[in-house]
Amino acid sequence: MSTATTSTAYNYKVVRQFAVMTVIWGIVGMSLGVLLAAQLVWPALNFDLPWTSFGRLRPLHTNAVVFAFGGCALMATSFYVVQRTSQARLFSDRLAAFVFWGWQTVIVLAVITLPLGLTSTKEYAELEWPIDILIALVWISYGLVFFGTIMKRQMKHIYVGNWFFGAFIITVAVLHIVNSMAMPITLFKSYSMYSGATDAMVQWWYGHNAVGFFLTAGFLGMMYYFVPKQANRPIYSYRLSIVHFWALIAIYIWAGPHHLHYTALPDWAQSLGMVMSLILLAPSWGGMINGMMTLSGAWHKLRTDPILRFLVVSLAFYGMSTFEGPMMAIKTVNALSHYTDWTIGHVHAGALGWVAMISIGSLYHMIPKIFGREQMHSVGLINVHFWLATVGTVLYIVSMWVNGITQGLMWRAVNVDGTLTYSFVEALEASHPGFIVRMIGGLFFLIGMLLMGYNVWRTIRASQPAEAQAAAQMTQGAAH
Ligand code: HEM
Ligand code: HEM
Repeated sequence: MSTATTSTAYNYKVVRQFAVMTVIWGIVGMSLGVLLAAQLVWPALNFDLPWTSFGRLRPLHTNAVVFAFGGCALMATSFYVVQRTSQARLFSDRLAAFVFWGWQTVIVLAVITLPLGLTSTKEYAELEWPIDILIALVWISYGLVFFGTIMKRQMKHIYVGNWFFGAFIITVAVLHIVNSMAMPITLFKSYSMYSGATDAMVQWWYGHNAVGFFLTAGFLGMMYYFVPKQANRPIYSYRLSIVHFWALIAIYIWAGPHHLHYTALPDWAQSLGMVMSLILLAPSWGGMINGMMTLSGAWHKLRTDPILRFLVVSLAFYGMSTFEGPMMAIKTVNALSHYTDWTIGHVHAGALGWVAMISIGSLYHMIPKIFGREQMHSVGLINVHFWLATVGTVLYIVSMWVNGITQGLMWRAVNVDGTLTYSFVEALEASHPGFIVRMIGGLFFLIGMLLMGYNVWRTIRASQPAEAQAAAQMTQGAAH
């Protein structure tokens, strides 16, 4: 069977749709990020309007980058990887189409409701109850398509990348449904079913595992497929990947209380969260080392292959942020870092350095294949994108470290008579240069995404989709 006919056996349509939307939502979400960064430099950019105020656009940014950009990247790659490694077409084309259109509807509803100020007030779970129900339906359908395809697989073995995607899908379903339990009051307002410290604990059990399973496990699934593919090497250690998988999912789930240090949460729960976070360093680094070592003997490829550079640098940032996270989870360190820009720097080391860069690298690998092209329109532009993204991320996180430590130290400084040495506004003034550097870093990252948008558009325009090509070849074959 020719490659062309094999590709008709796969449903690439939904993969193409999600891949294109990843780039579009990436540009939208990151533009919002740059706007927020600019608002912190020039508050006049809030325009004195409720809809464009920082408080309303911030959750729009987080939803757009995490769930729209990250979510579409995960759905595109998981549908691609599960088909190829199972050698089976998606379980149901109709359900896959529902997942695509349902997810886009959720995002559009977020874009409408969040600027209007309609929110459940739970971070990363702001959307109101009717949208939550839609999310649950789409997510369950996503799970059915994914696991249905695994059931249809042509080989006995389930590739490790699919284990990570599978754990991400199941856990996010559980997290979303449990954390969103609420009492609706009107169509647009509901109150959480939990109260007080319990509500906080459920929320951060959700919030931290959204990091662990949405922003980590799913992207590790991507890593386990695209790093070996792009490097053209087998994964360094298959055994390590299995240990990595079980250790990661067993430990992540306990670490949530590190978001609630020094709160009304029982002290033992805070300490448990801290200890589990410290242990989490081991599986996280196990995964990073496994990805990195896959390049043994192929390091020279980094000189010429910017896609591989994206993938490897993303692993380096993954290693960095999963070292930083456990350190920040230590209660005494958290006493300094909490509420400061250090947290924001940590978030974006993970979000830009790891999540965005691994997605970008994987998309550059995948897009030519799903659109039936040899390679991307311009490799030079990928290289420029790589440098803009790397420098942008470094500017972002370094400025936030400086700001975070400055803020933490200024807030806690006391005079001999016990009064505060600095007012809040003085600490804010000291943060201003860092806000400017962060905005420039974000702008670099965004410009890189715009170049990607152009490169992808040229690649698509110059090609025929793989399925159409295969169909054309088959018709030609039939005519001869
Ligand atoms: C051009 C790129 C980006 C810029 C300029 C940017 C900028 C910002 C700004 C200014 C904030 C608010 C910080 C504050 O409240 O002090 C923020 C928050 C946040 N951003 Fe971004 N962002 C970018 C990309 C991303 C990406 C790609 C992701 C995720 C994949 C992400 C995830 C988040 C999260 C989770 C928060 C909330 C952090 C927290 O509450 O601790 N951002 N971003
Ligand atoms: C071993 C791994 C990690 C540990 C132990 C860890 C730990 C932490 C800690 C202690 C905080 C600060 C909590 C606070 O003071 O409020 C934090 C915040 C955060 N981390 Fe991590 N982190 C890890 C990896 C990551 C990665 C890889 C990402 C992203 C891709 C990430 C995303 C976030 C986000 C979004 C927040 C902000 C939550 C919020 O307050 O809104 N973390 N993390």
